Amino acid sequence: MAQELWTAVDQYLNRHLLAHDAVLEAVLRANAEAGLPPIDVAPNQGKLLHLLARVAGAKRILEIGTLGGYSTIWLARALHDGGTVITLEASEKHARVARSNFELAGVADRVELRLGPALDSLQELARENAAFDFVFIDADKPNNPHYVDWAVKLGRKGTVIVVDNVVREGEILNEGSADGNIPGTRAMFDQVGNDERLDATAVQTVGLKKHDGFLLAVVK
Ligand code: SAH
Ligand code: DHB
Ligand code: MG
Repeated sequence: MAQELWTAVDQYLNRHLLAHDAVLEAVLRANAEAGLPPIDVAPNQGKLLHLLARVAGAKRILEIGTLGGYSTIWLARALHDGGTVITLEASEKHARVARSNFELAGVADRVELRLGPALDSLQELARENAAFDFVFIDADKPNNPHYVDWAVKLGRKGTVIVVDNVVREGEILNEGSADGNIPGTRAMFDQVGNDERLDATAVQTVGLKKHDGFLLAVVK
């Protein structure tokens, strides 16, 4: 019952506020045809990321966890000329689908996908003295504490950090959760709550993608 209502409300909101987008629909079709799991952000959440990146005036965006690049494309569309998204993905198959989707969406010139475990790519980015205005964390949840720490290190005053999937239908409350994703995100909350470098909040969401939530932080 609740899920049907959340889905219907999402459809209502998206019908009014999100332009029909043949490219993004084709991207989701390509992902499904390639057998990727349908765990992309919801359309209205993709647009929220896009709007947050625009509000932040982000020129250099980092994404951890590409999948088929659905969220990457929303973020790439927030960039002005000369801006870039660097997106990190461990799966060769996901990377192949994502690169093809970047061509399809006309953002391949603005997106750099780095293949490999994100922790390795993050070290490499640090060695290159890379810095980011906006960081979206959406990969393997056990590493969430590390990813937030890297986001701060690769950020500057004012860098915006968004972490996806921080509520998981309330499972976040379960200290002994059998879902291996939960301990990492719980450790991330402990860490962010005590991190003097960050101002943060988190918001629960319901909709097409069930009951979940995101954390939003700004580097002080
Ligand atoms: N941001 C995407 C969804 C990402 S799903 C969207 O909303 O459209 C999570 C992705 O993280 C998967 O593609 C998975 O392969 C990738 N991933 C998992 N562990 C990883 C790691 N250690 N390093 C880099 N990517 C990883
Ligand atoms: C999962 C991962 C995600 O990033 C997401 O948005 C939803 C689900 C998962 O691994 O189950
Ligand atoms: Mg996610």
